[in-house]
Amino acid sequence: MYTVPVGQNPTGVTMGVARKKEIYDICVEYDVIIVEDDPYYFLQMGAYVPKDERASPASAADSEKWISSLTPSYLKFDYQGRVIRLDTFSKTIAPGSRLGFFTCNPRFAERLERAGETSTQAPCGFGQVSQASFAVCLPELTSVPAAVHDHPAPDHLAI
Ligand SMILES: Cc1ncc(COP(=O)(O)O)c(C=O)c1O
Repeated sequence: MYTVPVGQNPTGVTMGVARKKEIYDICVEYDVIIVEDDPYYFLQMGAYVPKDERASPASAADSEKWISSLTPSYLKFDYQGRVIRLDTFSKTIAPGSRLGFFTCNPRFAERLERAGETSTQAPCGFGQVSQASFAVCLPELTSVPAAVHDHPAPDHLAI
């Protein structure tokens, strides 16, 4: 089953956790694999708050609170490894960067890797380099908690 559960196009509807659980249970019953294509996940917005009532500047604690308020992914309650989640940087870091990643159990991951090797072979190099550069300087640009700053970028990202 293919689904775009957040900001679905063209309705813009976001699926709540209760409905996701119902659908997950049906997929368990009929042994259906779920492909959760979720490019808009981090674009979820709460109720509108007028500008002068917003807390500012946003702190790391606000970010954590906001992330925990997002509707959970199917992965959150996938106890059988039947969910393949697709994420992309195209809707958050850089539009059109055409770079994303999937999260799934190792058996599916191995198959997807082979499929990638015999089709696209690799994501666009320019997209990979620009996203990696951004990842390296991200802690300097945001109020990421100190614990995150303390981890040096891995060698392969030090470009
Ligand atoms: C529903 C959906 N899934 C996935 C994508 C993937 O985006 P990209 O190929 O830029 O990573 C898009 C982009 O518009 C989308 O609308």
